[in-house]
Amino acid sequence: MTNVKKAKMILDKDYKIGEVDKRIYGSFIEHLGRAVYGGIYEPGHPLADKNGFRKDVIQLVNELNVPIVRYPGGNFVSGYNWEDGVGPKEKRPRRTDLAWSTIETNQVGTNDFADWAKLAGTEVMMAVNLGTRGIDAARNFVEYCNHPGGTYWSDLRKSHGYAEPHRFKVWCLGNEMDGPWQIGHKTAEEYGRLACETAKVMKWVDPSIELVACGSSGIGMPTFAQWEATVLEHTYEHVDYISLHQYYGNRDKDTADFLANTMALDAFIKSVIATADYVKAKTRSKKTINLSFDEWNVWYHSNDADRKIERWSIAPPQLEDVYNFEDALLVGGMLITFLKHADRVKIACLAQLVNVIAPIMTSNGGGAWRQTIFYPFMHVSNYGRGYALNPIISTPVYDSKNYTDVPVLEATAVYNEEKDELTIFALNKDMNDTLSLECDIRNFEGYRVVEHIVLHNDDVNAVNTEANPFNVVPSNSGDAKIINGIVTANLSNLSWNVIRLAK
Ligand code: AHR
Repeated sequence: MTNVKKAKMILDKDYKIGEVDKRIYGSFIEHLGRAVYGGIYEPGHPLADKNGFRKDVIQLVNELNVPIVRYPGGNFVSGYNWEDGVGPKEKRPRRTDLAWSTIETNQVGTNDFADWAKLAGTEVMMAVNLGTRGIDAARNFVEYCNHPGGTYWSDLRKSHGYAEPHRFKVWCLGNEMDGPWQIGHKTAEEYGRLACETAKVMKWVDPSIELVACGSSGIGMPTFAQWEATVLEHTYEHVDYISLHQYYGNRDKDTADFLANTMALDAFIKSVIATADYVKAKTRSKKTINLSFDEWNVWYHSNDADRKIERWSIAPPQLEDVYNFEDALLVGGMLITFLKHADRVKIACLAQLVNVIAPIMTSNGGGAWRQTIFYPFMHVSNYGRGYALNPIISTPVYDSKNYTDVPVLEATAVYNEEKDELTIFALNKDMNDTLSLECDIRNFEGYRVVEHIVLHNDDVNAVNTEANPFNVVPSNSGDAKIINGIVTANLSNLSWNVIRLAK
């Protein structure tokens, strides 16, 4: 039997957390599996353009409204020679990719990806290799990409057909350098020193760039948060962001506990803020380091399949998680958590974008479709622009295997002043019960409900596939209404809700 629980929320346009940086709706394309080859790029596909980019994929990326895409890795970048991927395609070398035990053909590289990003209407968040390489390769790379001309590397770019500099603004200083799996894994001291010296010269080449230092690969790393403290002590004045990465899984088939992971995410973000601010205090700096959550998602479904991949193949199907309904709920909850930290989380990249732990799937030579997690991301990316509000929430709680006092209602709201729109994002985590929500929107006078979008499925394991692509889809079926400044809505058990209000 379905019971009804009650939750309350207050939203006031003056209770603002901060302006949402649209780059929190970023994503990630790594040279890994079929993300690039067979994903964004498949020459010969009926829907490929003259450069080999799949137009059906670009259309889905546009639906997600992704403002920035991290590239080219990930673990891949720690063994990458960027020079391999520029210039005439027929001259580009094939290399072993030691991060993923595959062959990299280099048929897509920096300039090609910049072309794709332009087509997709997104910016590139570039990365330099601090695994096998260092200061020299990094400074040359910035010069190649961003210098206007009249120098060796910028003229080389011009000779490759790119007269105008790419002007890549955000650069990652390596990737997950705290992880023993990383090519060129380092201690915090080693990485901190290298990141500092690399950052200095990269900014000397182009002072307009912003730099992301590697934080921990996850809160579970044994070196967390000493890693962040040491790295920032070395780099504080030379970098702009510290990175966070986190993936969750539900191997125990415990939905209530799985959805409670937003609590761990929140604690992770708070700890990194505290650590960055500790270094700020220690170094007497006036500057504040913000957070780049540049890898996040659910990742576990494909782990067994990946162990069977043949070594040294080209673009094999790696990390192809098929996402189910409960994954979409957690992804929605993670996005709400980022919005609650909109004052410090300025970049976030859903890892990844196509085929590899991704919202968009393709088949080689075939179609492209939306996974379950596509929908909450699309909703928040499209309707979550403006000011993140600080909601006052009272909600029932539950205990799960690893968490206590888990809020049943996970919710927040974004106020778009220019458009006079207010959007409430709300997750009901209750396994069985409907949540009756009463939301006082006090000084939002004259607002009406535009729509109440609901994503729900009776089966937490329901998925979308090429054969059945619309099995899990949102509908406009919610019952939100507004009477005397109070929004009421019944949020069905295990549901993702988007209540859009406007004047
Ligand atoms: O996104 C997949 C991989 O996860 C990335 O290459 C790496 O940075 C992380 O461990």
